[in-house]
Amino acid sequence: MIALKTSLSAAFLSIVALNSSGALAYRWFNWQFDITCEATGFFVPANESELVSFVKSQYPRKTLLKPVVTFGGGWDLVDLIPTLHDHGLQVQNLGSEKVQNYIGASTTGTHDTGKQNQNLATQIIGLRVLDSQGNIHVIDKDNNLEAFRVAVGALGIITEVTIQAEPVSYLKRTNKVVEGPSNITELYQTIADIGAKYEQININGPNLVWNSSTQQLVPSTNLTLVYWEPTNHTGPANCSVDFCSNDCGICNRDYTCYDYKMNSIATTPAGICYRGFMGQFEHFFPVENLAEAGTDYFNYAISQSDRLAPYQGIKDILAAQGMSRYESDDVTVITRFVKGDDTWLSPVNTYNLQPNASGVFATLEYSWVPSYNNFTLQWFYQDLASEFIPQFGDKYNVRPHWNKMLFNNDTYASTIYPKINDWLEIQEQMDPQCQFVNPFLVDRLGIDRCRSLFE
Ligand SMILES: *[C@@H]1O[C@H](CO)[C@@H](O)[C@H](O)[C@H]1NC(C)=O
Ligand SMILES: *[C@@H]1O[C@H](CO)[C@@H](O)[C@H](O)[C@H]1NC(C)=O
Ligand SMILES: *[C@@H]1O[C@H](CO)[C@@H](O)[C@H](O)[C@H]1NC(C)=O
Ligand SMILES: *[C@@H]1O[C@H](CO)[C@@H](O)[C@H](O)[C@H]1NC(C)=O
Ligand SMILES: *[C@@H]1O[C@H](CO)[C@@H](O)[C@H](O)[C@H]1NC(C)=O
Ligand SMILES: *[C@@H]1O[C@H](CO)[C@@H](O)[C@H](O)[C@H]1NC(C)=O
Ligand SMILES: *[C@@H]1O[C@H](CO)[C@@H](O)[C@H](O)[C@H]1NC(C)=O
Ligand SMILES: *[C@@H]1O[C@H](CO)[C@@H](O)[C@H](O)[C@H]1NC(C)=O
Ligand SMILES: *[C@@H]1O[C@H](CO)[C@@H](O)[C@H](O)[C@H]1NC(C)=O
Repeated sequence: MIALKTSLSAAFLSIVALNSSGALAYRWFNWQFDITCEATGFFVPANESELVSFVKSQYPRKTLLKPVVTFGGGWDLVDLIPTLHDHGLQVQNLGSEKVQNYIGASTTGTHDTGKQNQNLATQIIGLRVLDSQGNIHVIDKDNNLEAFRVAVGALGIITEVTIQAEPVSYLKRTNKVVEGPSNITELYQTIADIGAKYEQININGPNLVWNSSTQQLVPSTNLTLVYWEPTNHTGPANCSVDFCSNDCGICNRDYTCYDYKMNSIATTPAGICYRGFMGQFEHFFPVENLAEAGTDYFNYAISQSDRLAPYQGIKDILAAQGMSRYESDDVTVITRFVKGDDTWLSPVNTYNLQPNASGVFATLEYSWVPSYNNFTLQWFYQDLASEFIPQFGDKYNVRPHWNKMLFNNDTYASTIYPKINDWLEIQEQMDPQCQFVNPFLVDRLGIDRCRSLFE
């Protein structure tokens, strides 16, 4: 098999394919991960005519070709995805929105859902990284790719990324509302069973809703299942015309749609409808723990009525004044699934799993949404969100998402990122003067040699 590379930073389509040297072998999977093969090499032509010659030379040999993409570090998904599409390509997976920088999203561990779908970062097969002394480092499978794919900006400036691409395909998306049991233990057993049944699913709910007469958070246990399936549909693409995620439109209704994979997974550029304050974390843990961890998390959230009460009166005041406010459930939980990987700082790294673990992770995303932006309340949400890992982290092998609220200390980091010391060594080589570090990273990861700079 041959890997083909498309250079999006150039005006022309240039292609990289493999040579016999096996310089950059790469294992390839189709989107369902049911077909796999190993590329035995890589070839980078300077331009289109070289590519044409190369492809012509491979034709008599019947060499299989596989597209790979290179582009500059500044590309946003909203530009990248249509450009790929123009070339008949897509990526294996995306997060739920396209208004993100590709490097920013992938190198912080952004993911979507699917038991055989991995973080965006696993699409990365090569990087050019500028270190703090001005040297360019070429990072690939044989050169610390596992350290760099999720590096949260601390290993240097990424000037170029090469990602695995695949031919465009369609997905069918289904939204379905189901009634969950009101008993929370049974509810999370149901959620775990649903997760076991579907290959690629996003489970929205349960929610907590404030009842101002009883001054209590009340569970609402209906679930909206959103799941994706392969399809041979060739009719109109209609997912992006009616996309309800990211707080755009009402999602808890039954419908189906068909679209190109990228549009069926991620909202269109305009599709982000809430950008106010919120308390939000997302925690990953081995899927085997879902029923139990889900129950413990939700019971803990339910038990917070007394602490939330002082902030709830504003709703009645705003309502009485006829003021508009953001309408939402007070707390929303979303459950998703991600296949583990070998990236050192990935939240779903598999280095400390039990030998009998499946290697699949479940995620719980908790969102506490206020009626309006108020810092006092926002700090309270921070306090509340910070309490979950100390409570449940060790018990369920919980790892936090880099892009959401994250509070762990360096002791905990060394448990959940067993390769942290190797990573810190590379960090020092790339950045001897701590120019890519900040106090947040010092505390989370224990970059002790940089600590005095920020005191
Ligand atoms: C393509 O690149 C090769 C190798 O650098 C060069 O010899 C050739 O002139 C280039 N062709 C075009 C059309 O730029
Ligand atoms: C829960 O779902 C059931 C079945 O779809 C529906 O009849 C009911 O109205 C829903 N309840 C709420 C509170 O949304
Ligand atoms: C919820 O269900 C579990 C398992 O079926 C049971 O052990 C527990 O007693 C139930 N809790 C309540 C409050 O009914
Ligand atoms: C709040 O709780 C009371 C007492 O259980 C109930 O009668 C009322 O319908 C609830 N209000 C809302 C908005 O759910
Ligand atoms: C698509 O069509 C092929 C060939 O007819 C068939 O084998 C496959 O099962 C179909 N896939 C789906 C998802 O319907
Ligand atoms: C999308 O089109 C299909 C038919 O091709 C239809 O069954 C479905 O209801 C449509 N979905 C939406 C959201 O319009
Ligand atoms: C924010 O909420 C707190 C607690 O409800 C309240 O005391 C404070 O006045 C609010 N601040 C603003 C600016 O509305
Ligand atoms: C895996 O092994 C652990 C420790 O031996 C055990 O507690 C657990 O039940 C096993 N899990 C599965 C899914 O077999
Ligand atoms: C670090 O975090 C862990 C897990 O939350 C906690 O058990 C431990 O007490 C913390 N250590 C320090 C020194 O704060």
